[in-house]
Amino acid sequence: MTEPSALDNLLTESRSFPPSEEFAAQANATAALQQEADADREAFWAKQAERLSWATKWDQVLDWSGAPFAKWFVGGKLNVAYNCVDRHVESGHGDQVAIHWVGEPGDTRTITYADLKREVSKTANALLSLGLEAGDRVAIYMPMVPEAIFSMLACARLGLVHSVVFGGFSAEALRSRIEDAAAKLVITTDGQYRRGNPVSLKAAVDEAVEKTPTIGNVLVVRRTGGQVDWVDGRDLWWHDVVDAQSENHTPEAFDAEHPLFILYTSGTTGRPKGILHTSGGYLTQASYTHYNVFDLKPDTDVYWCTADIGWVTGHSYIVYGPLSNRATQIVYEGTPNTPHEGRHWEVIQQYKVSIYYTAPTLIRTFMKWGEDIPARYDLSSLRVLGSVGEPINPEAWIWYREHIGAGKTPVVDTWWQTETGAIMVAPLPGVTVAKPGSAMGPLPGIGAKVVDDTGKEVGKGGGGYLVLDKPWPSMLRGVWGDEQRYRETYWARFADQGYYFAGDGAKYDEDGAIWLLGRVDDVMLVSGHNISTTEVESALVSHNRVAEAAVVGATDPTTGQGIVAFVILRGIKEDEDGTALVKELREHVAKEIGPIAKPRQVMVVAELPKTRSGKIMRRLLRDVAENRQIGDVTTLADSTVMDLISSGLNSGK
Ligand code: WT7
Repeated sequence: MTEPSALDNLLTESRSFPPSEEFAAQANATAALQQEADADREAFWAKQAERLSWATKWDQVLDWSGAPFAKWFVGGKLNVAYNCVDRHVESGHGDQVAIHWVGEPGDTRTITYADLKREVSKTANALLSLGLEAGDRVAIYMPMVPEAIFSMLACARLGLVHSVVFGGFSAEALRSRIEDAAAKLVITTDGQYRRGNPVSLKAAVDEAVEKTPTIGNVLVVRRTGGQVDWVDGRDLWWHDVVDAQSENHTPEAFDAEHPLFILYTSGTTGRPKGILHTSGGYLTQASYTHYNVFDLKPDTDVYWCTADIGWVTGHSYIVYGPLSNRATQIVYEGTPNTPHEGRHWEVIQQYKVSIYYTAPTLIRTFMKWGEDIPARYDLSSLRVLGSVGEPINPEAWIWYREHIGAGKTPVVDTWWQTETGAIMVAPLPGVTVAKPGSAMGPLPGIGAKVVDDTGKEVGKGGGGYLVLDKPWPSMLRGVWGDEQRYRETYWARFADQGYYFAGDGAKYDEDGAIWLLGRVDDVMLVSGHNISTTEVESALVSHNRVAEAAVVGATDPTTGQGIVAFVILRGIKEDEDGTALVKELREHVAKEIGPIAKPRQVMVVAELPKTRSGKIMRRLLRDVAENRQIGDVTTLADSTVMDLISSGLNSGK
């Protein structure tokens, strides 16, 4: 479960960075937060919920009697979109910029809170005109255009449940998600820009909805101007339907436990799980964590989270957290090296970004591109840096602080999951003495600990599993349509103690700080994205030339883990060109799941190493994958892989 290199770092890391006095003096978070939470946890969360505007106040903070299904702020009613938009206009901040949008080709849009209110209201009126009603599911399959955010907020405003599907996913991935949630509408664009080139998106929707009878309409934003096929009656242009609507829409308050969204995440079995989040508790924790962990000052900060709205980070830290806190933020459509490798620094310089939140995989990529690139820009506006998605190795943490943060900004390493909805374990800037590579400890109000196999907390210096020992407001409310899977995946492992099993290995250091060590299950973390080995294996064996496949995540200097597949082929021909077939298999996986799941390497083998009970020996395969110096592919005739496997077997691994 732990890569030796990562562990070595962890064992020798002793640097620590106390907050500067200036920072601490102005920080939103103080040590009092922890004291308040310790004194009375429910009263603490009730106070955090007061950050929001409620139409009806709750009668009970937490009802855990139906565990593991929590109810937070029972009896309370609120409108999530009102909290993210209208109330800021009503408090006199309509002219404040909500979103500085930067398109990949260089086009820009400036959207104030008053603009956002108009756009979200028109979008909500359009969705009503299509016959959608509270509780209906809407799939959003879009690049990072402002309409994607308008769509999410319009759903929230109407009590529709959005299911955002990452624009890099395939038609098949979209189809299965639409089907699982029985969505009635898909919102998409004609196409999207990828590394400077327009590529189609609508075509994938056409393919997906051919097999999903629940879909009544496809609402299409024109982005690239590319050619699209059109089904009259089903397909509608955004500019025809939304632009014509009234700018006025009165939001209705929904129950605190009304479903807000479903977001699919990989599980250890092939089928993705639809993680369900609800309204009041989710928004409370998204707002509380965004305010305290990033030290947001709504009047002066310019915040930028580089995630895509297709992931939970985009939901909680582009849409719901920042907008509920009246942030001014950057939303950037493109890739970090389009048109050049200094694009992010250029944006930071131009907009005077003060808070920047990104992923370790990107930080390592920036390191590879060279520190002379950020050095060419004025990054002096930055005052807080964040990291999320996978463990950040100490060297990347130090580089980030030195070369992006001028050696003085706090770096907040934030551990959380799609399932947790919001940040759970992280330092508080201005309070915590941070150690490079450690997510430090649970936030005030959160219960997290490291336990052994039997559920007993380990001592200082001990390692085991990360568990969450108390319910939290933004916790998932189940797996869509599959109560059993929810119970089994998260609550069965430590059923006696009633702990939530996160699926991550972790350890305490001698001071009791938490260090995350990666997944303990068969989920890989590729560029911070969760991909299951089983899912990629199923995609491979769905190709008619693959008899059997085993997939492992091998350490990768840039992406954290890289996907390596071992395949047994059907009917190898003596003179066959292995390179072409391997290429075809990689493309096949990209088509089935999406380009991010494309294996870095495919190795053709004659057999797979198995235990006597028939379980594939993944640890051995990972060793093979990590210790072999090769390029992208191997040829069919290559026997060295098999030799490595047998020598590993013989050495008793
Ligand atoms: C898994 C959840 C949270 C949004 C992005 C990923 C890993 C996430 C960290 C971190 C170590 C981390 C865990 C977790 N992870 N952040 N700061 N340090 N590991 O969301 O796709 O649901 O993945 O990402 O393994 O279980 P996700």
